[in-house]
Amino acid sequence: MRTENNHILKILKTHDEIVQKTIEVANKLNDRFKNEKEEVVLLLVLKGSLPYALELMKHLNFDVSIDFITSSSYFLNKKISDPKIKYEPTFSIENKKVIIIEDLIDSGHTIKKLCKEIIKFKPSSITITAIYGKPSRIKTNNYEIFCWEEDPKEFLIGFGLDYDEKYRNLPYIAIIKGKK
Ligand code: IMP
Ligand code: MG
Repeated sequence: MRTENNHILKILKTHDEIVQKTIEVANKLNDRFKNEKEEVVLLLVLKGSLPYALELMKHLNFDVSIDFITSSSYFLNKKISDPKIKYEPTFSIENKKVIIIEDLIDSGHTIKKLCKEIIKFKPSSITITAIYGKPSRIKTNNYEIFCWEEDPKEFLIGFGLDYDEKYRNLPYIAIIKGKK
């Protein structure tokens, strides 16, 4: 554990709190997809969603298949206005229900662009989940479910969230020192 790490200002969500909230989200998804006959596609947004997705899928009790989509919203530590998306499906999602798993939705630009890209492959529906969904985000027309619908304001690291590609492995979510 790196609680002593001098880049961390404060732990905002402990690992236990994240797991607890993830189970609540999983239960809502279990309810939503309980009568599903076909498997639901989990589309993991690399790289930040990995820890959340791995925790979430353990608690899902409907059939799923898994694929990846890559997005980068930052370049050289600066947020770029047009996120870069790379999607090379390993199987068809046509007429399938898709759940996009993200780490954090801030302005909503990235998720909007992700949806636009995914829609080209004709899924029958899109559901969105993330650890954080900021209340001020641009909302999509899809069902959206978050561990926390909050606006922490500060720059967050841990549990998938990075600063300069570091800290994704922290088991908790923390505020980084000296960055807004
Ligand atoms: P949006 O396009 O403004 O919604 O930004 C979302 C993207 O920026 C997500 O893919 C996040 O990974 C990243 N992001 C936004 N805020 C933070 C943060 O506080 N820490 C780490 N990554 C962030
Ligand atoms: Mg991200």
